[in-house]
Amino acid sequence: MKVLVIGSGGREHALCWKIKQSKNVSKIYCAPGNGGTREIAENIDIKPNEIDKLLEFALNNNIDLTVVGPEDPLVHGIVDKFEENNLKIFGPNKQCAQLEGSKDFSKRFMEKYGVPTAKYRSFTDHEVAVSELKNFTYPLVIKADGLCLGKGVIICNSEEEAKNVIKKILVDKIFGDEGRKIVLEEFLDGVEASLLCFVTDNKIIPLESAKDYKKIYDGDLGPNTGGVGCFSPSPLFTEELNNKIKKDVLDKIINGFINEGLNFKGILFIGFMIVKGEPKVLEFNVRFGDPETEVVLPRLKSDIVDVFLKTIDGTLVETDLVWDDKSCVTVVLTSSGYPGEYKKGYEISGLEELDDSIIVFHNGSRYENNKLLTNGGRVLSITSLGENIAKAREEVYKNIGKVKFEGVCYRNDIGK
Ligand code: AMP
Ligand code: GLY
Repeated sequence: MKVLVIGSGGREHALCWKIKQSKNVSKIYCAPGNGGTREIAENIDIKPNEIDKLLEFALNNNIDLTVVGPEDPLVHGIVDKFEENNLKIFGPNKQCAQLEGSKDFSKRFMEKYGVPTAKYRSFTDHEVAVSELKNFTYPLVIKADGLCLGKGVIICNSEEEAKNVIKKILVDKIFGDEGRKIVLEEFLDGVEASLLCFVTDNKIIPLESAKDYKKIYDGDLGPNTGGVGCFSPSPLFTEELNNKIKKDVLDKIINGFINEGLNFKGILFIGFMIVKGEPKVLEFNVRFGDPETEVVLPRLKSDIVDVFLKTIDGTLVETDLVWDDKSCVTVVLTSSGYPGEYKKGYEISGLEELDDSIIVFHNGSRYENNKLLTNGGRVLSITSLGENIAKAREEVYKNIGKVKFEGVCYRNDIGK
């Protein structure tokens, strides 16, 4: 089989790495890929949002399976386009991808089907939104409706601040059309956790759990990032919590899918706030997480291409997912300045000195004149399996200092 993976991050490198292990795969393409995917796949110079070009490439090259990494092409209907052309593609269609593409859509869905979530109201009119502020308490969460590269959620501590944010989104249009609508939402105080699930034919099958670290500095300090470390499994998901999640969340989501006629196929990534032991849904994503994928896929023993094909044809069942008992830890090396401004293009060295136990997933790298260079805020994910989290963590930190580039940063407390 020939497989096309769409995207350029650590998630897509991990996907290519796992697909490469499939016995049925003869060739992998990655569009556009990075310095890491280049070693196992052929990088193709097409961006994830260039849907027509991707379609043309898949048709011309007899691609048997396409796997979509990021949300943007899903929200813009890549799956519908490929399916119209009888191409197999892993991911939800445009209608289902609204669960990530529109906060208002996902909140309405949750409310209608009783999925526990923060109380909210949506607005498109600036004056109406401001006049309704009197009905909310602080902190107040304000969300732009659409995709805003992870910057669309703002927590306000006063009415003054809230007025300012509402104006910036609805009047000044800092997020353009993605901020045509806003959601005002009750602030939930608890512990964040996420769960990825395969969904097909109205079945929802959770993957092994993972714990993502969002803050840039040790001790969960500093600004939010895309995720700078992760481990799997997460001890937060006790049997009691899993049972609650199944009954209060997963079963209700499936009931909603059936009632709305949403034929969801792909990954549903559920972001939770666990408030006093009760799971509340903060958000849905309709794709694999990054860096969650980098710690979950090394633990998957099953052939992932088989899993993708069964998700597409609706036959996937829980026993198709076989997991390694080992734990996995990843620590992301970042460029100095990330998640703010940072420079790219520094040479990366030391990868050949790493122990064989280490897997390196590239988040943002590229080759130029045979040199591997940094090419993003998140650069490399240094990953290891181990008998338990402590052992996997020890392997990672024993090796991490060997990899060098100018301004390299990382957290010291991942999995501690
Ligand atoms: P989202 O994109 O909806 O996950 O929001 C991004 C981040 O904002 C989450 O990971 C939380 O840290 C925070 N957040 C979102 N909604 C809420 C809420 N209702 N209460 C508290 N924090 C929230
Ligand atoms: N790690 C969070 C995400 O992929 O959205």
